Amino acid sequence: MSAVDELIAAALAARLKAHAPYSHFLVGAALEAGNGRVFTGCNVESASYGLTICAERTALFKAISDGVRGFRRIAVAAESPELTPPCGACRQVLRDHCDELEIILCNPRGETKVFLLSELYPHPFHDKMLS
Ligand code: THU
Repeated sequence: MSAVDELIAAALAARLKAHAPYSHFLVGAALEAGNGRVFTGCNVESASYGLTICAERTALFKAISDGVRGFRRIAVAAESPELTPPCGACRQVLRDHCDELEIILCNPRGETKVFLLSELYPHPFHDKMLS
């Protein structure tokens, strides 16, 4: 299995761990660091809906809190008519930690589509603007 296929498999498996009793929309993510480590995440919903965290940020925050920096790609798995891209909040937070990132959208039917973060989020607000 290629590294990309393994990442997709990890995102699909993480999706099954989603805590989504309100939307019933299960999302999984698998983030590959530059050192090859993979961090998975799922969406975790709250009864106070706005406190929900998406799968992508769960995976990213797991990596950051483990002291890992520098990422190559992320696979995002969901089951919807169209392949599901990261929401706007996740695009910003991914951009906070990655100048560029390959984003692989996938679903349990074996469909995939690849984007770059810079395509999905072309004019980001970023840290250099804060100085
Ligand atoms: N969700 C994600 O986890 N990632 C996305 O990219 C889109 C949305 C979650 C949040 C919420 O739990 C559910 O999907 C419906 O919005």
